[in-house]
Amino acid sequence: MRAIVVRKFGATPELTDMPVPEAGAGAVRVQLEAAGVNPFDAKMADGILDGKLPHDFPMILGVDGAGTVAAVGPGVTGFAVGDRVVGKFLNPPAGHGSFAEFAVVPESGILVRVPEAVPTVAAAALPTAGLTAQDMVDGTEIEPGQTVLIIGATGGVGSFLVQLANMAGANVIATARGDVADQMTRLGAAETVDYTAGSVREQVAAGYPDGIDVLYDLVSPPEVLAELTGLVRDGGTVYSTIWSADEDALRSRGIRGGNIESKGGARELTRLLDRVAEGDVVVPIDATVPLADGASVIGAVGARGKTVLAI
Ligand SMILES: NC(=O)c1ccc[n+]([C@@H]2O[C@H](COP(=O)([O-])OP(=O)(O)OC[C@H]3O[C@@H](n4cnc5c(N)ncnc54)[C@H](OP(=O)(O)O)[C@@H]3O)[C@@H](O)[C@H]2O)c1
Repeated sequence: MRAIVVRKFGATPELTDMPVPEAGAGAVRVQLEAAGVNPFDAKMADGILDGKLPHDFPMILGVDGAGTVAAVGPGVTGFAVGDRVVGKFLNPPAGHGSFAEFAVVPESGILVRVPEAVPTVAAAALPTAGLTAQDMVDGTEIEPGQTVLIIGATGGVGSFLVQLANMAGANVIATARGDVADQMTRLGAAETVDYTAGSVREQVAAGYPDGIDVLYDLVSPPEVLAELTGLVRDGGTVYSTIWSADEDALRSRGIRGGNIESKGGARELTRLLDRVAEGDVVVPIDATVPLADGASVIGAVGARGKTVLAI
């Protein structure tokens, strides 16, 4: 089968032929039709999980994927051949990911059926980015009317976060370069701030002299996040998805949150899919790229919503 692999940590991703995996006991083999691309794929290729999980090489990249159950191993009770499914294809040993024609996952992992109303490509774009956004909003207990600032709002996580924070009743301020401000407004942002047009802290402070309630930061290094945290009122909430938060400093001001690692599982993914099926959450897909060209989009910057590989 065709798959995108790296042959060692730090190598350039390449398209190659790999054996079709077998579904062992308790496992499900999925014929993938679409795979969502995340910044994490490039980080995995560079070895972010080295020492934390065993890896097999050549390592097939890709975490998010959707398709059809092609085979079930002995003992599988929750899925049948032909089910349309979506999930996260990251289980030890790492290296058997979703950028391939087939992948195998334990049925007890993050694998759920796709509601009829949700296209397979949209489902594939959801797991990592959508669950991270949902986890952050779940962890915040936003009260209607509270002000939420999202830094890095125009990419995968941010596109879901804008919608989910808006649905929770927040007044959402999203960072966006000029060309993408309208898209943020359509997703539910009340205001946009162009981070290339001057200091975000100064632009937001001018409109909110008493401070904002929540800061979700998806891109800033620690020193920038520390500065932006000055916008948040004491007792507010700050989350960083890239481990930039100084949690002791946050606690000293009674600020909740901190560094977040998405823990959303099958139940949370089903909840998010239901919101998409009901039309409450849209899945903004920027580009659909054939698997054969997938290596070129791994690690790409300047995302506008999600990029999905068509397999
Ligand atoms: N901890 C976790 O569990 C977890 C889960 C998911 C993701 N993450 C991490 O969270 C980060 C974001 O993920 P993602 O999928 O949303 O990434 P993404 O799709 O690449 O989006 C990042 C967005 O930020 C914008 N941006 C870049 N620099 C900016 C700046 N200084 N100010 C404002 N916006 C800026 C980019 O557009 P422009 O460059 O055009 O402005 C892009 O739209 C990644 O590092 C990812 O690995 C962590």
